[in-house]
Amino acid sequence: MADDLLVARGLVVSYGRRAAAPVLHDVDIRVGKGETVGIVGESGSGKTTLGRALLGLVQPTAGSIVFDGSDITAVDEHARRSLRRRMQMIFQDPMSSLNPRHTIGRILIEPLLLHGLADNRQAARALVHNVLDRVGLPRNAVDRYSFELSGGQRQRVGIARAVVLRPDFVLADEIVSGLDVSTQAQVLRLLKELTGEMHLALAFISHDLSVVRSICQRVVVMREGRVVEEGACERVFSAPQADYTRMLIDAIPLPVVDPGWLNRGSAADTSASA
Ligand SMILES: Nc1ncnc2c1ncn2[C@@H]1O[C@H](COP(=O)(O)OP(=O)(O)OP(=O)(O)O)[C@@H](O)[C@H]1O
Ligand SMILES: [Mg+2]
Repeated sequence: MADDLLVARGLVVSYGRRAAAPVLHDVDIRVGKGETVGIVGESGSGKTTLGRALLGLVQPTAGSIVFDGSDITAVDEHARRSLRRRMQMIFQDPMSSLNPRHTIGRILIEPLLLHGLADNRQAARALVHNVLDRVGLPRNAVDRYSFELSGGQRQRVGIARAVVLRPDFVLADEIVSGLDVSTQAQVLRLLKELTGEMHLALAFISHDLSVVRSICQRVVVMREGRVVEEGACERVFSAPQADYTRMLIDAIPLPVVDPGWLNRGSAADTSASA
């Protein structure tokens, strides 16, 4: 098992009034170094809330979150700044998370300067060229605006913006749900390659279990703010222990195949029609 990178224990999160009913109840989750962990569950089960809590974007009312040995719920501003580089997020909708008034170049260069990963613009530009090459975007994308790109290209920019900071942990929340199936596959393949190359830990939130199965090593199943099952991806999919997990798996739509497709254009073969 990989060494621990991020370990949350007993997380309780409520929105609004403290006394309001919590949306996360006593959640435990662990992400190992370089590991991809899927977080699944139906809408409203608390996946996004859990992800935001892991990044320190919502404050839990109870529990601890330890990132690489330090409790991030109790760090000073200086430590938080370095954590902000080491923990990145890729958003569901890059159209609303990429500033439409800034070029892609500016969107990628500014965080590099802010976090001190490049001493000057020229050095930052060189890092940006490398990351554009790596995510499969042309270098002249630096002069374009997000609205001039396709959905798949925009999501590549979202990935580039996260990985260019050389984080240890990335949270991806429903990042392929707005894309067509073949673009989804390309983006997932890229993400899988990058996590391997960069030894990047990934928490991958999705309501689409077949996507999770294709990319994750472990999976956490959430229901109504609790973890109902957790385990190696293959085990959870082949032998789910919780009824709820079984129900989610049974709800994965089977590929719709027209039974006649194989024979089209070869009228000679009638044996497959039974
Ligand atoms: N900012 C907020 N203020 C108040 N309640 C919220 C807020 N965000 C989420 N909730 C509530 O918390 C619960 C969990 O929501 P969350 O967004 O974490 O679910 P999710 O699993 O990500 O759902 P989805 O699959 O639809 O994205 C829901 O009942 C939701 O209404
Ligand atoms: Mg969500």
